Amino acid sequence: RGYRWRMFDPAAILGPRVSAAIEAAFGLRDVDPVLRPSQFADVQVNAALALAKQVGAPPRDVATRLVAALDADGAFADVAAKVEVSGPGFLNITLRDDWIAAQVGAQAGDPRRGLPTPEPQVVPIDYSAPNVAKEMHVGHLRTTVVGDALARTLEALGHRVVRQNHIGDWGTPFGMLIEHLLEVGEDSDAARLLETDPNTFYQAARAKFDAEEGDFATRSRARVVALQGGDEATLAIWRRMIELSKHYFNRIYTTLDVTLRDEHLAGESTYDPMLEGICDELEAKGLAVVSQGALCVFPPGFTGRDGTPLPLIIRKSDGGYGYATTDLATIKHRAQDLHADRILYVVGAPQHLHLSMIFEVARLAGWLGDTEPVHVQIGNVLGADGKILKTRSGAPIRLMALLEEAVERAGAVVDAARGDLDDDERSAIARQVGIGAVKYADLSVAHDTEYVFDFDRMLALNGNTGPYLQYAAARIYSIFRKAGLDPADARGAVVLGEPAERALGLALLDFGAVVGDVAALLAPHRLCTYLFELAQAFTAFYDACPVLTAPTDELRASRLALTAAVLGTLVEGLDLLGIAAPERM
Ligand code: ARG
Repeated sequence: RGYRWRMFDPAAILGPRVSAAIEAAFGLRDVDPVLRPSQFADVQVNAALALAKQVGAPPRDVATRLVAALDADGAFADVAAKVEVSGPGFLNITLRDDWIAAQVGAQAGDPRRGLPTPEPQVVPIDYSAPNVAKEMHVGHLRTTVVGDALARTLEALGHRVVRQNHIGDWGTPFGMLIEHLLEVGEDSDAARLLETDPNTFYQAARAKFDAEEGDFATRSRARVVALQGGDEATLAIWRRMIELSKHYFNRIYTTLDVTLRDEHLAGESTYDPMLEGICDELEAKGLAVVSQGALCVFPPGFTGRDGTPLPLIIRKSDGGYGYATTDLATIKHRAQDLHADRILYVVGAPQHLHLSMIFEVARLAGWLGDTEPVHVQIGNVLGADGKILKTRSGAPIRLMALLEEAVERAGAVVDAARGDLDDDERSAIARQVGIGAVKYADLSVAHDTEYVFDFDRMLALNGNTGPYLQYAAARIYSIFRKAGLDPADARGAVVLGEPAERALGLALLDFGAVVGDVAALLAPHRLCTYLFELAQAFTAFYDACPVLTAPTDELRASRLALTAAVLGTLVEGLDLLGIAAPERM
């Protein structure tokens, strides 16, 4: 219910008043007033339709009695200019212009800009999670971008977010990777590939392993045993390998301007000491059984196509542990040591079955208590051919090259449009626009849908794109430069006369509710849609209402205040998405 408390949202203010009127008219307490946005009214009340049965009267009569109760009470005098019954029994409410204006002014003066204050929760967010000695692919890009936007948004609402970067830094391939690193030497160019082109490093190790030449494969197998057995010399070189990989991850994170830092690394290796205990515990609880030599849990409700129960293998027949055991240790740690209220797994949709089984086993084991794990499914990023994005030669895309191309393409546009700016500023803008475009493309569609990666579309200055919103903000900055005024000082009283002005005021009041919804529904694309519509409402306002040349000083001050409120909302909204807003472009 915490999310229902929204400071400036008209529906939040009217809702309790309508409920009170329902109680006065019909003696029914705590009835949901069913407020909906509508194209025919500022706020529509649909409660009469639901109440008709209970009250035993036609919905239109119920609606009429409700209007009378609201009138008698004077509940609407300061808020509503008009309340009408329409259609089968809707109540259409038209808000007073001066009330909207006062709300806009109050929201602009609120340091939280109307963000709701829900009950604070502890929320570990598992995102990014690339694998050591492997290229980050566009799927990792998307979980990084979406996870970071969720982290920023939940934090802004007062939740305690615990970022968890579950990197793949453990397991059988590390035997061969360590042997390869030892062979090429840590200071060699071949080793440096871990920082620049990890796939090539991996493939070189793999080729030697598969060639079965000499004793490379044998040494690699022995190396895994040494690593998992805690051999200090092996762990030391393993640590240096992780260190090199961290440089690669961090270069991507810095380029992307995401909030992940080294302290958020909690890779698979972290949980190694827990794995044996996890297996013992599940066996003792009667949940794990040996099947074909492997220790397995068969959570009820998970079956293969032929109806046979699906196993979660927690100890292989050779005694080794895998991805599932690590994830069980992870969820136990997050629920019990981190005291999570909600755990977000921002992870590719193809891992849904795996994570669902992990969640269910954790629940059966009694680890979850009130903790709610959620798989925020990340849809695939596709190429123009509708298949998983690859390079022309079919090789996986190098993420850094992709990001550089975005910046380069944005740079070409900025150079052409803003020859008046110096090189440094132009390249800074190109970076913000190029990266902003890529991030916005990931964020502006529902996180679980697939989309086609298309530079031309994501960099377009028209449509629901990052650059469009950045440009809208930059245009407003330029209005203030022209006015010789700092937007923070535009604090005139807001007056709403023109329809476009009024519509813009109403749009501003939605900000807090939308951000609350993004957090509750884990849906950053809603914030994108909102910001896009806000920018469009601003354009309509700016076309219809002169700002700097407004007919009166009072109106000029009001329009500047409204314009500043739009700027603040755009910049803050983009910031919650992790996107920078350049002051010129
Ligand atoms: N490293 C994995 C991959 O690249 C993702 C890990 C997701 N998190 C987790 N707790 N399983 O596919």
